Amino acid sequence: MSQLEPADVKLVRLGPSYAAACAAIEAELFAGDDPWPEAAFLAELSSPNNYYVGVVKRGEAGDGDELCGYGGITKLGPAGAAEYEIHTIGVASAWQRHGFGAALMDALMAAAAEDPGPVFLEVRTDNEPAIAMYEKYGFEHMGLRKNYYPGSGADAFTMCRPAELAG
Ligand SMILES: CC(C)(COP(=O)(O)OP(=O)(O)OC[C@H]1O[C@@H](n2cnc3c(N)ncnc32)[C@H](O)[C@@H]1OP(=O)(O)O)[C@@H](O)C(=O)NCCC(=O)NCCS
Repeated sequence: MSQLEPADVKLVRLGPSYAAACAAIEAELFAGDDPWPEAAFLAELSSPNNYYVGVVKRGEAGDGDELCGYGGITKLGPAGAAEYEIHTIGVASAWQRHGFGAALMDALMAAAAEDPGPVFLEVRTDNEPAIAMYEKYGFEHMGLRKNYYPGSGADAFTMCRPAELAG
């Protein structure tokens, strides 16, 4: 488990009011891969099946709080036979390597532990930082989706964290 440092940074559950801030980070991180626009985040953050969490840094006096990263997971299937899919996770480049990605993953995995089930995701085959992070959380390679990303045509690995690791 990771600990958020420094003290002016906190994890918050994200609702629709964070759609624009998420889209701004997404545009920076996924420029070549059809980043989700604000409207897509509005739908994601409004869906009752989704759980979104963010790392928020308290602003200086007079400044608003700053969203540094976000992650979202969706629950599929009936109670007792749940499956999950990580829809997205990203940390603004200025804030990477501070443990924020791990803090977001901890929160998403805790959400998936409430009604334990396998967790699935897709990740670009050349995204070494994200793959390393997912492997640390027990995700295993399952398969390859060719030309998965419409913007770049890049391939994706599918990965799964077995249900036994939940809870
Ligand atoms: C993947 C990402 C979310 C990690 O966020 P982060 O806040 O930098 O991650 P953390 O500092 O919490 O590190 C968590 C783990 O991720 C892995 N990791 C993160 N950056 C890494 C890098 N540059 N190289 C290798 N491993 C890396 C490590 O396993 C790390 O654990 P460690 O610190 O014990 O080595 C961030 O790199 C990112 O936003 N990337 C762009 C968006 C993206 O690719 N999202 C995933 C789409 S599937």
